[in-house]
Amino acid sequence: MVMKLPLYPDYVIQEVIDKNDIVEVISEHVALKRSGSNYMGLCPFHNEKTPSFSVSPQKGIFHCFGCGEGGTVVNFLMKIENLTFLEALKALAQRANIMLPEANNADSKKEAAIKDKKETYFNINYDAAKFFYKKLSDKDGQVAVAYFKERELTGQCAKYFCLGYSPAKGNELLNHLKEKGYNEEDIFKAGLTSKRDDGTYYDRFRNRIMFPIFNINDKVIGFGARRITEDVNPKYLNTSDTLIYNKSKNLYSLNVARRAKKSEIILVEGYMDVITVVKYGIPNVTATLGTALTPDQAKLLKRYFNEVIICYDSDDAGLEAKKRAILILRDLEIKTSVMTVEGAKDTDEFLKKYGKDRFLSLISRRKSDILYLMDIFGAKYELQKNIEDRIKYIGELLPYLSKIKNDVELDVYIEEIAKRAKTSTQSIYAQLGKTRLIKNGTSNGTQNPTIAPYAGAILTDKLEKTRELLLAVLADNVSIFLKFENELSQDLFENEVHLKLFNMIKEKSKSHHKLEASSVMVDFDENEVGQVTKILSIDAKCDNKSLAVKDYINTILQEQKNKKIEEMLANGDMEGLNALLKNK
Ligand code: CTP
Ligand code: MN
Repeated sequence: MVMKLPLYPDYVIQEVIDKNDIVEVISEHVALKRSGSNYMGLCPFHNEKTPSFSVSPQKGIFHCFGCGEGGTVVNFLMKIENLTFLEALKALAQRANIMLPEANNADSKKEAAIKDKKETYFNINYDAAKFFYKKLSDKDGQVAVAYFKERELTGQCAKYFCLGYSPAKGNELLNHLKEKGYNEEDIFKAGLTSKRDDGTYYDRFRNRIMFPIFNINDKVIGFGARRITEDVNPKYLNTSDTLIYNKSKNLYSLNVARRAKKSEIILVEGYMDVITVVKYGIPNVTATLGTALTPDQAKLLKRYFNEVIICYDSDDAGLEAKKRAILILRDLEIKTSVMTVEGAKDTDEFLKKYGKDRFLSLISRRKSDILYLMDIFGAKYELQKNIEDRIKYIGELLPYLSKIKNDVELDVYIEEIAKRAKTSTQSIYAQLGKTRLIKNGTSNGTQNPTIAPYAGAILTDKLEKTRELLLAVLADNVSIFLKFENELSQDLFENEVHLKLFNMIKEKSKSHHKLEASSVMVDFDENEVGQVTKILSIDAKCDNKSLAVKDYINTILQEQKNKKIEEMLANGDMEGLNALLKNK
């Protein structure tokens, strides 16, 4: 959703922002401590031990340097209370005793209609969950009760997870929901019925154990449904995606796990694994919903936890799933480790067989993702005797190594791998450089091997950092902008958000106005706001701002040139290179 909604004129939105003290509002949710002209605290949007969440009362914005969330007081309220823009604006208007005119246009009506539908689907799913749960006390629900006994699921488990039974007949839930006043189309679109060719409906879930799936705010959004007898297929039938349920964006029992306030989350394969782990008193556990882990799910995990402990089944499929999950988690720079349920096919079986203490000991003996893979691949190959095996070993590890963004960490692992595979660290670095370039699609086999393998990564970091600093100083100093006007070209920037911000600063400066941090936020998309607050929250403390800006501009120009040289070298474009160097 784009933040800029033409519901109210900008000045109305700005008034609401200005009349609400951002420090006061945020303090209702976060303990803030003064630090210079800003306030700092522990970020409520991700799990952290040292404060990186900063609030600037002068600028009217907040920014977390840990997870990148940021924005105005409106954005804060939206995120912390899960509100729409309009809802947050209304709440803040009320708080400051501002009368908002009744927003009345197509967009807000559409937004309200969708919200209404969602609310209906939440209610239908909630009523369905209650219906399935109550079935456990009926005569026909006794097959489910017997099944629970067999799987060592207590009545408490059933209650806690609201487990239930869907009757076999095929119309009981439909009739129940209709009696409650819902219409057939809504029930269908909420995911609880299927449609026959003749347009009539019947219960989607029949004669199955029901696992309601809750979202992070404790709303029932869908179901997983397990067969009771092994001769039925599929083993699990799940809700298909609906307006409120998306299997690749939610996680099972995350609403419970996040309340545990633990820094690690255990990621298991299935519903039964989660329930058993929680039953043994470990609440920080979750599972995907019948798919492999997705980037969206990983982001969700990053929001609440510092480390993901993968605890997948001990079969081949489990290993493949682990490898994929590691790549996804590493991509998002999430600390990842692996624990292995030795002597059992899955977590559920392990706990029942060996108990909680042995499980806790597995947790404490977990290995970092890369170390785990080094061991797994190491066992597969004969590193001591076979030369080809050494090459294969390193080859298998490369995709994971190329995801490591911290140079020190990379160095440590490469050192160890070189030792195990009896090779030099340089050759691994060289390999890594190659695979990186190939992945970026820039390799044509003529690359110059003397180029440091990940100089590219460092370069972009330095460039980005410098651009951010430059924008931060310019946003704060109209006179500096005007002084350097001729040297400040759009070409210094690449990223769209930077460009947009640069042009805003330029426009403002030309009319001798300073950019107001809190007022530009409505011009950026929700997913861009964090990038903007990151820049505007930088306290550009330097004595000589002119000198700093000059330096930033030169650094950017120089780095851009270096990058060009690198590209030409990699492409073997010697002519272009000569021309460029002559130009100097
Ligand atoms: N799954 C699915 N559809 C299937 C099989 C599995 O959606 N046909 C998903 C379910 O979310 C399930 C998970 O994959 O929880 C793991 O599958 P599996 O290990 O087979 O199930 P368990 O949860 O371990 O259940 P059980 O112990 O009862 O076999
Ligand atoms: Mn299982």
